[in-house]
Amino acid sequence: MDLMGPHGQLDGRKWEKLREVAGFAEIIIRYLHRFPIRKDEVAVLECSCGKSYVGFVLNLLIAEVFGKRVRLIGVDSNADLIERCGVLAGRLGLEGAAFICKRTIELEPQAGIDMVVSLHACDTATDEALVQGIRNQAGFVHVVPCCQNQIRGQIKGGHPLEDLTGYGPARFRMANLLTDVLRAEFMRAAGYHVEMDEIGSPKLTPKNLCISARKVKRKGRGPRDGGYRRLRDMFGVRVAVEKMCPEVVLGGGSK
Ligand SMILES: C[S@@+](CC[C@H](N)C(=O)[O-])C[C@H]1O[C@@H](n2cnc3c(N)ncnc32)[C@H](O)[C@@H]1O
Repeated sequence: MDLMGPHGQLDGRKWEKLREVAGFAEIIIRYLHRFPIRKDEVAVLECSCGKSYVGFVLNLLIAEVFGKRVRLIGVDSNADLIERCGVLAGRLGLEGAAFICKRTIELEPQAGIDMVVSLHACDTATDEALVQGIRNQAGFVHVVPCCQNQIRGQIKGGHPLEDLTGYGPARFRMANLLTDVLRAEFMRAAGYHVEMDEIGSPKLTPKNLCISARKVKRKGRGPRDGGYRRLRDMFGVRVAVEKMCPEVVLGGGSK
């Protein structure tokens, strides 16, 4: 999988990547133990897949641990990486696998997606993965966001926590946290139960927060977008996921 050097050595960034992938996969497998998918084949869409480390690992683990086939679909905007994924899938004999060169948001709905996953998709590409989860009505969405630039410039002032965002580094951290909580609350508004975990110690990577969303059935209730709206309006910000999928909060949500 291109993580090792010619003599089997794992060094520097590759060692980190392996641990990030392992930590993320562990969270997903724990979820599958708690909430089993009752189908013989699990369809996994990996967004901003890069070399699809996560997809290939899930393919192996879901087969080994649960005895199920995986239909893996990877999407990434980098044509070279997509080609490499296709070659590797061929070498591994993964007949059902498909790798598509597109921006995640441009991917048309795929049939029967059970799970959308994304590890360190750049900036708003994480929001694109969330939108794919919602549009494909995936039962499970797991994302570990990467860099978050979208609201940093929007929270310099003019909100009740101004004193907290007056210092550059503090604003940087606040923007990261706020972006991820807004994403989590947005998924709740879209009909998901949401949990947050860490894929490993922040010493491994500061980008270690995992947002896991599980689709839940609602009995005759409107969207629970109270938390999303409150936070969004308190800071006067808009995150990309709302711009891409406005229908989630346009329905006049409840508290
Ligand atoms: C930091 S890499 C992570 C790759 C992989 N998920 C991993 O963890 O090894 C980010 C990837 O996102 C891809 N990317 C960036 N924006 C994208 C978008 N809007 N849609 C699809 N892929 C995107 C890049 O081509 C790159 O492969």
